[in-house]
Amino acid sequence: MCGIVAYIGYREACPIILKGLHRLEYRGYDSAGVALLNGDLNVYKKKGKVAELEAFIAEKDTRAQVGMGHTRWATHGEPNDSNAHPHYSTSERIAIIHNGIIENYAALKQHLQQQGHVFHSDTDTEVFVNLIEEIQKQNNCTLEEAVRLALHEVVGAYAIVVLSRDEPNQLIAARKGSPLVIGVGKDEYFLASDATPIIEYTNEVVYVNDYEIVVIKDGQLDIRSKEDVQQTPYIQKLEMALDSIEKGGYEHFMLKEIFEQPRSILDSMRGRLELEAGHLNMGGIRAYERKFVNADRIIIVACGTSWHAGLVAEYLLEDLARIPVEVEYASEFRYRNPIITERDIVIAISQSGETADTLAAIELAKSKGATIFGICNVVGSSIARATDAGAYTHAGPEIGVASTKAFTAQVTVLTLLAMIVGHKRGTLSDTRLRELMVELSSIPAKVEKALLLNDEIELIAETFKDVPNFLYLGRGYNFPVALEGALKLKEISYIHAEGYPAAEMKHGPIALIDENMPVVVIATKDSSYEKVVSNIQEVKARKGRIIAVVTEGDTVIPAMAEFVIEVPLTSEVLVPLVSVVPLQLLSYHIAVLRGCNVDQPRNLAKSVTVE
Ligand code: F6R
Repeated sequence: MCGIVAYIGYREACPIILKGLHRLEYRGYDSAGVALLNGDLNVYKKKGKVAELEAFIAEKDTRAQVGMGHTRWATHGEPNDSNAHPHYSTSERIAIIHNGIIENYAALKQHLQQQGHVFHSDTDTEVFVNLIEEIQKQNNCTLEEAVRLALHEVVGAYAIVVLSRDEPNQLIAARKGSPLVIGVGKDEYFLASDATPIIEYTNEVVYVNDYEIVVIKDGQLDIRSKEDVQQTPYIQKLEMALDSIEKGGYEHFMLKEIFEQPRSILDSMRGRLELEAGHLNMGGIRAYERKFVNADRIIIVACGTSWHAGLVAEYLLEDLARIPVEVEYASEFRYRNPIITERDIVIAISQSGETADTLAAIELAKSKGATIFGICNVVGSSIARATDAGAYTHAGPEIGVASTKAFTAQVTVLTLLAMIVGHKRGTLSDTRLRELMVELSSIPAKVEKALLLNDEIELIAETFKDVPNFLYLGRGYNFPVALEGALKLKEISYIHAEGYPAAEMKHGPIALIDENMPVVVIATKDSSYEKVVSNIQEVKARKGRIIAVVTEGDTVIPAMAEFVIEVPLTSEVLVPLVSVVPLQLLSYHIAVLRGCNVDQPRNLAKSVTVE
């Protein structure tokens, strides 16, 4: 949540920062601003998207070789010009950008007001910058020292960048709980919430760790611990291609990412599923194989779409590996008093690797001695680094706020994991393993085929674009898919939608069904097919409008449904990888037809770094 970017070097900072803000806009987009240091310290900020900020500063003097920018997802204070970042200190000699939440801001603010500091916003961030100013005044110290002392006083999460008019050619940054990456160029440095604003200029990056302070001054990078001990920067080479973060001819990132799935699923299997050799490998579990084999149970923690992938994993791990699984909302798990033992394995699933609740759930489970396995998409992310072991999904950057290719990549990795563990535990025979390997290898082609339904689905979307409600039903492996379909629709089209296990319908939701209610039923050929057919009859008897996702060649359901979407046949345990695709497309087209901003839906942000 919130994107931050900064530059110090020999180029014009402002264009680099604005471009970076566009790349980070998926993290928040209710206001944006820049601070430029060029003798003076000028802050320009505006409510709205980065494009509005750009228009606002078009006529201003933006020449500077040091600067920083922010795109906001509001936590404290409504989205408006004054709550936008950067924030000045009272003297306007220091400015800050911040991603995170300062929990003790109210007490600090009261104290600072008593010292004469004046506030122009409702934000916790303005308290932070005034605290730095007050500390500098009281101690007559450098900005770096003042920032360090301030970090000891704030409680909460932050990634910050601070500039001071009195110490030009210097940029100070720090992190705790919110991501921060340094791009190391030749005679120039970049700072950002993730690598996307940086890779155009350099592929050498340093991931800042919690409690580290970064000082970039006179061309030198200095990273120190909170206790002022110098750290050796660990420079990593990124392998992110520029075109992976651009739209590449698609109207929206979401559509591009839906269409990327044949490739992203393949990438998630690459090097892990070796069909010819008959091998499955997953480097991440090698050292923990015995733990998995002997695990009493697996607890999966995640949020949102990643939680839906976790539900699919529950079916997979119980079916294939016969290990009891509990799937938990990280936000609930962290505040319960869950029973966790050293024999438990906790799998944390997260696209961004930055979700605050998932990270907190990991810390809790770790403190009780569980082994933590991470499944993340973003390399070097906080969750990836907090886990004992893990596997990256390799879906490539996901920019559209609604998660699509990350979901199928997560399910792919979880399928491989369940197959490996099941085989090791002896619950998955050689023959069944081989069959599943062959079938999993064919999934990218089947997803490719499901994508050919795009035009057909656009026509269905046309019919339903103005309805106020939708119901999604599925059973077994398709129950999490129903939940995911409903989530996709509501988050980007703002149509109320609910996902239900099809048989649960008669315990309540059936009361909603009348001739106006579209009901998406995922009814592929599997062990519960007959039962789902009965559920469809129940909907039909109440005049519900049925949109059925069926297996190619089905002759029964087409006679009952108003619309039928045929997906290729696959094994029951792999079906979510295929059946979710038409639901992604349906929500996309409905949202576009309703004129919604699909890549940046209202109130949402891609990476939820606040609890
Ligand atoms: C829905 C969506 C969210 C995320 C959730 C978890 O389309 O994107 O529900 O799935 O915020 O995010 P990650 O996976 O980054 O932990």
